[in-house]
Amino acid sequence: MCGIVGYLGEDPAGPIVYKGLQNLEYRGYDSAGVALVGEELTVQKRSGEVGALSVPEIPSAVCGIGHTRWSTHGPPTDENAHPHTGMTGEVAVVHNGIIENYESLRESLSDRTFTSQTDTEVIPHLLEIELEDGHDLYTALNRVVSQLEGSFAICAVHAGRNEIVATRNQSPLVLGHAKDGVFLGSDVTAFLEHTRDVTYLEDGDIAVLRPGDVHVYRDGTEIAYPIETVEWEADAAEKGGYEHFMRKEIHEQPASLRQTLSGRIDLDRGAVELDLEFPKGYLSSVEEIQFVACGTSYYASLYAARLFEEIADIRATVSIASEYTFDGGRDPWRTLTIAVTQSGETADTLGAIRRAKRAGAQTLAVTNMLGSSVSREVKNSVFIRAGPEIGVAATKTFASQVTTLALLAVYLGRERGVLSPSDARSILEDLRGLPGGVQQVLDNEASVKEAAVAYQDSDAFFFVGRRHGYPVALEGALKLKEISYDHAEGFAAGELKHGPLALVTDNTPVLAVLTDGGNIPNTVNNLVEAQTRGAPAIGAISESHEIDSLDVGFEVPDAGLFEPLIANVYFQLFAYHVANEKGRPIDKPRNLAKSVTVG
Ligand code: F6R
Repeated sequence: MCGIVGYLGEDPAGPIVYKGLQNLEYRGYDSAGVALVGEELTVQKRSGEVGALSVPEIPSAVCGIGHTRWSTHGPPTDENAHPHTGMTGEVAVVHNGIIENYESLRESLSDRTFTSQTDTEVIPHLLEIELEDGHDLYTALNRVVSQLEGSFAICAVHAGRNEIVATRNQSPLVLGHAKDGVFLGSDVTAFLEHTRDVTYLEDGDIAVLRPGDVHVYRDGTEIAYPIETVEWEADAAEKGGYEHFMRKEIHEQPASLRQTLSGRIDLDRGAVELDLEFPKGYLSSVEEIQFVACGTSYYASLYAARLFEEIADIRATVSIASEYTFDGGRDPWRTLTIAVTQSGETADTLGAIRRAKRAGAQTLAVTNMLGSSVSREVKNSVFIRAGPEIGVAATKTFASQVTTLALLAVYLGRERGVLSPSDARSILEDLRGLPGGVQQVLDNEASVKEAAVAYQDSDAFFFVGRRHGYPVALEGALKLKEISYDHAEGFAAGELKHGPLALVTDNTPVLAVLTDGGNIPNTVNNLVEAQTRGAPAIGAISESHEIDSLDVGFEVPDAGLFEPLIANVYFQLFAYHVANEKGRPIDKPRNLAKSVTVG
């Protein structure tokens, strides 16, 4: 977690670093700080959100680093905020990740005074020792890194020198190249308004930024770093008139889904075009697909697993990444493990895909982040192309994940010869209709808001669904609980009567996915069982069905296997409006962060 920013250029660094921190605040928001380089270092840091930080105006300081924190070691206090300095105040460091051996390093530095409880603080102390020994900052960092275990992206500055040195190991770090300066960021949104020309640093790279000059070294040798152009527009990371990123991102879904599908569907051939490089014949020989993911990405994978079984006629299992082991006597070569992760940085998911790799399985990543750690870990990646998602609650990326995975299922079905071109065509046509279908739901937002206002004070909310509607019920409940802090649970509709019905009262609305393929009559029966115990019944219903007994009904346009995906947009809006009525900090729910880079 945590976001780090660096700038060295022609303009005052303070405002630029501060804006970068605001852009990255979704990565963590319990403390923030900056270090600006002059003859002395000016370090300003404190607990609280970036907005609570006042950055000193120093027009001559054109070099600076900054940090927005999500605590791992040590509570969010002013002392634990980054940047960290050692004992001389000559060096300042920002760090994202975890230094696993910090306790033993700290013991070896027992003659020095520490002012925080963080794992990070060992780094400036170690740097100071190297600088005292006469090394320059680059060599000092090189020598310090060889003592560190764990995951880290680090930026360091030194008083009196316009220079930033930076390195990474299993935590993201990107360089941005603009005409009048160079940027560092945990991801490109840190500096997207300045440049879209970027270099993704690799593990072990050390970047040295000096005025008008960038060098990247690997194993002591300078390397030519490739510059890539990011396609995201600068305003993709801005709120664009919406009160919250989450609502903006819900409304972006028609456009983001179009991007996900763009150039990938060949309707004439009933085929999907994806840039995958597996050994010839490999995909036809796969016996099992294993999905590994967390949270919303896990629910997207549950949806996808069923699609893979139906469309590509292949066994598909889904593991919560932190629970994943590769066992059970599977043939590793015939097992394809797919990591599904929006950020590409989730530690549990990275751990799982590494375990699969070690066992010999083939691996694939489905992610939104080009250049992310997961895409470096595997040979093949499929990007969901949803654009930056800033709100902590995943919305448009869930839709793009399921859609990308559906494309992959069609691709696999065709490769394996189990899906006819005409069956593929009909699935692809449904996918092509998704942006329009989602738009119809968005046009209906006023009625969702009305329901949210009417039921906002309920004791709890239950979500139910069958088949593809089941993961959507789980996702609907997750969305509501994480942003409204209300108790919400998702169940397979058939399970209500096996226990959860005991929780149902006249103050616990039950929200149901009543879409085609989800055995509507049985799910309606389950809903009626709750309704007869007094629970208000709210349903997202296929337009081809009419159900009069509901307290509230939302119409879901025809979309075959993807109707639950469209129904999910009603649940996103419902969660949003309940949380908004309660005045919750929707984009930054308490205790959560967008990218969970600790296991
Ligand atoms: C919920 C949410 C989380 C993430 C989970 C995995 O709204 O966003 O549950 O889905 O932390 O994150 P990624 O997909 O980045 O691996």
